[in-house]
Amino acid sequence: MDTILITGGAGFIGIHTSLVLLNKGYKLVIIDSLINSSYIAINRIKSTYKKTNKYPNNISFYKGDIRDISFLRKVFKDSIKLGSEINYVIHFAGLKSVSDSFLEEDKYWDVNVNGTKTLIKVMEENNCFNLIFSSSATLYSEYETSPLRENAKVNVNNPYGKTKLEVEKFLENKIKSSHPNWKIISLRYFNPIGAHSSGLFGENPNNKINNLFPLICRSITNANEELLIFGNDWPTHDGTGVRDYIHVMDLAEGHVSAVEFLNKKIIKSSFLVINLGTGKGTSVLELINIFQKVNKININYKFAERRKGDKAIIFADIRKALELLNWQPKRSIEEMCHDGWEWFLNNPFGYEK
Ligand code: NAD
Ligand code: UFG
Repeated sequence: MDTILITGGAGFIGIHTSLVLLNKGYKLVIIDSLINSSYIAINRIKSTYKKTNKYPNNISFYKGDIRDISFLRKVFKDSIKLGSEINYVIHFAGLKSVSDSFLEEDKYWDVNVNGTKTLIKVMEENNCFNLIFSSSATLYSEYETSPLRENAKVNVNNPYGKTKLEVEKFLENKIKSSHPNWKIISLRYFNPIGAHSSGLFGENPNNKINNLFPLICRSITNANEELLIFGNDWPTHDGTGVRDYIHVMDLAEGHVSAVEFLNKKIIKSSFLVINLGTGKGTSVLELINIFQKVNKININYKFAERRKGDKAIIFADIRKALELLNWQPKRSIEEMCHDGWEWFLNNPFGYEK
């Protein structure tokens, strides 16, 4: 079975993807600096697989930074020594907060852009040319109308998004100018929420949270954190912002489909951009109402000013993912609300406490 290097594999999307890949029998080498995650996530994944005794030795973990070239070289070298040469890389590692990226632009550039370039260099040194990259729907121009197709215009207004765009351009150029074996898929995620149904894995809120779903959860358990809805005057059916929320397990399965797609011998050197969303928009008020109904809980909120940089409606056209990857999401928004709340209830402070 192939060996896959997962960068940022202890993080929210990385850990769920690792779970799905392990279930499929892939061998995993996970690397993570743990800057926004915890070793407990790795321990949990290891013990989950020990219990089932399915593939107990298929997972190894290295703590380290993707910007550290000697660290990356060692990871690749060790894998060869162990007879499990790395064939694929799924590159999740990076910094992801739009608001923090305005405050720490250089750091975002260094981790997201320079970190990726270092990774690519070491992949080339090791003749590993299969890459799946975590990109974002934030790239799409605000003047494009949803459903957004992959060929819609891009235009980013925040440093985080600019780093993702820079990496996409760099990767596309690799195909044009470099080794003919490169096969790269850039997956543009929409709004991942929810968690693994065991309640053992989910999003680790180490940094200041800005996203709606974890803020809904926190507003329930912490009376001091009232939920603010940013704008009730958007040009949408109920005046609140519309997004394409996708269950993190569906997103994880999208990565498995991407690996399987790259594995097909017929696929020649290519750089592909593919959306991963559900193709459906849900407003802030709709999400809150579904959450209340599914979890039988009351959410207090009040309306506030629009948040700077927000857009009214963003949802994906997901036909390309269906057509090329034979992937489509299976889980409902009700399951997202149920599973995400279950995780939060079990782990109100993330993995650590
Ligand atoms: P996350 O923060 O939970 O996971 C990222 C992981 O990368 C963390 O475990 C962190 O410790 C690790 N990391 C950060 N810098 C590192 C470095 N220099 N070296 C090694 N490891 C490092 O985030 P996530 O939600 O799982 O997102 C994964 C990827 O998907 C990111 O690249 C993010 O930009 C992208 N993305 C996320 C969303 C979202 O809403 N969650 C949307 C679009 C795109
Ligand atoms: N919202 C509120 N109150 C809050 C937080 C958010 O009303 O406290 C609203 C926003 O205005 C928006 C919706 O909830 O209408 C979703 O906001 P999020 O912050 O959860 O998500 P965004 O769509 O703004 O951005 C997210 C990630 C980005 C990623 C993008 C991809 O944070 O990193 O999805 O579409 F790029």
